Amino acid sequence: MFQLENVVPWGRSFQDYLGMFNLTPEDLKLSILDCAGGPASFNAVMKKQGKTVISCDPIYQFTSEQIQQRINETYPIIIKGLYQNFDQFVWSPITTPEALGEYRLAAMQEFLADFPQGKKEGRYRNFSFPKFPFPDQSFDLAISSHLLFTYSEQFSFSFHLNSILELCRVAKEVRIFPLVENFTSAKSRHLDFILEALTSRNYQVDIQKTDYEFQRGGNELLKVK
Ligand SMILES: C[S@@+](CC[C@H](N)C(=O)[O-])C[C@H]1O[C@@H](n2cnc3c(N)ncnc32)[C@H](O)[C@@H]1O
Repeated sequence: MFQLENVVPWGRSFQDYLGMFNLTPEDLKLSILDCAGGPASFNAVMKKQGKTVISCDPIYQFTSEQIQQRINETYPIIIKGLYQNFDQFVWSPITTPEALGEYRLAAMQEFLADFPQGKKEGRYRNFSFPKFPFPDQSFDLAISSHLLFTYSEQFSFSFHLNSILELCRVAKEVRIFPLVENFTSAKSRHLDFILEALTSRNYQVDIQKTDYEFQRGGNELLKVK
């Protein structure tokens, strides 16, 4: 069973999403699915711009209050972790863990303010990898950050492959960021095998550079068509 106490909610901003996924103004006009969207503000900001994104994450089964409480509990632990692993991150333009914390908190507050209404509208759905109950090719673009490849130690190769094949089933194009494992600059142990498995199934795979880099070496995304 999915338990909130096992989650470290840490959501990125709309600007971060643009950078992580190389999203162009044209891309923002597409129908977009954000898998493992967590407490990121991308969906909320897109809504303010008149666009509808569907985000999936098991944390969406909880209330805003429960998610807020979990953010409060884990916040000091994350700041401590950033100090302990300081050299693994790029401290520009944000120069300290506290400043980064404030920036992330602002994004998460924007998510929390939008969450109750977004849940009613079906923009936040309690669905989890590796299976999503959407018809084939329902979306133009599926994006996913900081779960696949990031948690390569916790999730097996088959979980990764099944999850990515599922994203390819529900969307015409898939982008995943970053390709390095959590708290390291090392490429995911699954990456080469995933590229091979996708290529052998006739998917087109492309690794693209991103301007966004916070985790050192985390400046590439995987695009699959
Ligand atoms: C570090 S957050 C990333 C949030 C957001 N994508 C970002 O980059 O800011 C990882 C998210 O993955 C979610 N998660 C964990 N297991 C999942 C699964 N099986 N399917 C979908 N999401 C999952 C967690 O609940 C958490 O919100």
